[in-house]
Amino acid sequence: MKEPKPIVEIAATGRWLPERVVTNADLEKELDTSDAWIRERTGIRERRIAGPEVGAADMGARAARIAMKRAGVHAGEIDFIIVATATPDRLLPSTACDIQAMLGATNAAAYDISAACSGFLFAMEIAEGHIAAGRGDLALVISTEKMTGIVDWTDRSTAVLFGDGAGAALVRRSSNGRGVMSSYIRSDGTLAELLWRPAGGVRIPMDAGVLERRDHLVKMAGREVFKHAVKAMADAADQALVRAGLTGDDIDLFIPHQANMRIIEATAKFAKIPMSKVYINVDRYGNMSSATIPVALDEALEQGRIGPGDNVLMVAFGAGFTWASSVVRW
Ligand code: ACO
Repeated sequence: MKEPKPIVEIAATGRWLPERVVTNADLEKELDTSDAWIRERTGIRERRIAGPEVGAADMGARAARIAMKRAGVHAGEIDFIIVATATPDRLLPSTACDIQAMLGATNAAAYDISAACSGFLFAMEIAEGHIAAGRGDLALVISTEKMTGIVDWTDRSTAVLFGDGAGAALVRRSSNGRGVMSSYIRSDGTLAELLWRPAGGVRIPMDAGVLERRDHLVKMAGREVFKHAVKAMADAADQALVRAGLTGDDIDLFIPHQANMRIIEATAKFAKIPMSKVYINVDRYGNMSSATIPVALDEALEQGRIGPGDNVLMVAFGAGFTWASSVVRW
């Protein structure tokens, strides 16, 4: 198969994580859980939690500023701000518009997308589409998640899993044959109720009953989600590799969505990628939904784990269900 020619590349990345660390031992004091259970079932040791003064837009803008500084890009040059978030500061207007105002990106079109944990890779594909269509040259793709704001702190089966954080990527037209080699996005809306917030929108508006039932918070059928996640992430890994004309052997670094160590291991095994080539930070941050991949990507670049010419595979799965993947050549 002829190698695809990238349309866009990632010029720079940035991340922002709250300072406050909450360990499994801290959670033991609040919930009927244990460090051993959480580590064994998920691989998570600790997570970051943002204070009440910090919103999704604040976190996203901080990550974006770092990416802009590294790329030497001024706010006025940005054509699109696409924010992936499951935890917007409010429902109207978008978190992206708040970030646009914070950055002073006056020439940008800004909007949110909703694709849960797969949001970063969905937003990357949308950015590529805008640039491919010739509508602009520079897109800021941001994932920002204050998951601890939508978690039910009385439900031990979900409360231990999530954390807060934001990551950003500046996407521009590829000039040197490097960049996004392939991407793949998919959804299955028939399975929405396995991982959702049942109420609080217009269908079932917020009222005293909703609050009492805690139906405005995350509910998850963990075991079912686990099974679908493993299958969908294997499909997504396969599709990104095939579309890029590559195999697992060609991948220098694999960055999977960081929800659960066991899902990560199963996906790496399916894609025939050794664990030494898998980037892992779920132990330190828990599941930050769409922010896990850009945060991991930013850390990997900073640590020198990605070098010129390297092929990076990214794979995500989330509520919807949604799943997605991409191969990017550095
Ligand atoms: N501490 C101690 N015990 C617990 C806890 C906890 N935090 N949570 C659940 N348990 C108990 C359950 O009550 C149950 O007890 P029982 O056997 O007496 O009934 C037992 O542990 C087993 O519960 P399961 O839910 O069957 O445990 P499982 O091995 O499936 O692990 C987990 C649960 C970690 C949630 C797992 O199902 C999972 O990782 N699922 C995927 C979740 C995920 O990754 N979601 C995000 C993907 S999409 C996205 O990122 C938004």
